[in-house]
Amino acid sequence: MRESYVIAPSILAADFTRLGEQIAEAESAGADWFHVDVMDGHFVSNLTMGPFIVAACRRTTKLPLDVHLMVEAPERFLAAFAKAGASSLIVHVEACPDITGTLKTIKSLGCKAGVTLNPATPASDIESALILSDQVLVLTVHPGYSGQELMPEIIPKVAEIRRKLDEIQSPAWLEVDGGLTAANISQLRDAGAEAFVSGSAVFHYPDGIAAGIRLLREHLQ
Ligand code: DX5
Ligand code: ZN
Repeated sequence: MRESYVIAPSILAADFTRLGEQIAEAESAGADWFHVDVMDGHFVSNLTMGPFIVAACRRTTKLPLDVHLMVEAPERFLAAFAKAGASSLIVHVEACPDITGTLKTIKSLGCKAGVTLNPATPASDIESALILSDQVLVLTVHPGYSGQELMPEIIPKVAEIRRKLDEIQSPAWLEVDGGLTAANISQLRDAGAEAFVSGSAVFHYPDGIAAGIRLLREHLQ
């Protein structure tokens, strides 16, 4: 078990007219990493941000930038995101015909390498990638949009991946992403997750960003 859990606010839910301020507020409230959701309009139907925004975040914070690439053929963009200041690059197994090769490329660029999988993809599809992964991200919603409800049927898959990581004594972070709230975060922790991505429950929390982070943290105690 880790000494402490990671909370990674997803800037997809931030107010982009005040991105720097919102990152600073989340950082002072104890955010550990920032999660950046990159979508290309092909792998998912939404279109979001590219290396330019990662570079802007990098100028705003020294915390790790956790970049989730929801794009077709992510190999095309790895070097650009590494240069922009990404700390970790997470690729979808569904978008990578040679996942092992892609993870090796990410490491050669000096970034942590992460693999992720859609809700419909079985854990067995990432089995061969676990040994090379520094992070394993389990999507608990269909990727594409912030503000959806967590799919509870994915929680057993989190536990299954936890067992597989433990079996190979992997030091990889097991991370969950999508629909996290104070009401469900402890179930994900109990299933073995250690890093928690949250968009809405941080940036849209009615009492503000700091209170949102505090509440999630309280439910991880
Ligand atoms: C979903 C993204 C998530 C999303 C999380 O496609 O990968 O990172 O922004 O936002 P919430 O916490 O609002 O579901
Ligand atoms: Zn994400």
